[in-house]
Amino acid sequence: MALVVALLLGYLLGSVPWGLLLTRAAGHGDIRAIGSGNIGATNVLRTGNKGLAAATLALDVLKGMAALLVAEAVWGEAAGLAAGFGAMLGHAFPVWLGFRGGKGVATGAGVLLAASWWMGLAAVLVWLATAALTRLSSAGALAACAAAPVVALVAGRTDLALFAAGIAALVVFRHRANIARLLAGTEPRIGQKT
Ligand code: G3P
Repeated sequence: MALVVALLLGYLLGSVPWGLLLTRAAGHGDIRAIGSGNIGATNVLRTGNKGLAAATLALDVLKGMAALLVAEAVWGEAAGLAAGFGAMLGHAFPVWLGFRGGKGVATGAGVLLAASWWMGLAAVLVWLATAALTRLSSAGALAACAAAPVVALVAGRTDLALFAAGIAALVVFRHRANIARLLAGTEPRIGQKT
């Protein structure tokens, strides 16, 4: 029962669409009508407002972290992981937006960092390195998705590897359009408007 409650709590926290709320509040209109249409920090950056993109990134990371850490503190480790996965589902499929939400990169980073700081840090570093080299946010996200379970496996933590693989599977699923653009060579670089 605690696992279900934790999953729901995580879902509610994750379903807060910070990118959409902040963009609207700052007078940029509906972020879903801009760039890729995604509600995440990469697309918020396409408004040209770097501070807003940074705030979106921070709040999306924090909601993932908060979901896992609060549930873990109240109901234990398994509930923490359930809440973390719930936060991913809430971000990607928020009831408030007709179940059409974001891609889960920042929220996933927060969840992974809270689950295991070294696994999360490895994923973030792989994202940063790949994004710096390619200037492609989605390529960074996909590389980080591949790296996190591998790092956990190498450290002998099969449980964490399976959890990271679940998070990664959701992120990759939400990047279907990005993957098609990457293969076609039409994916916009970081900060590029279209
Ligand atoms: O964090 C999402 C990123 O990987 C891709 O975003 O807006 O370019 O689809 P976007």
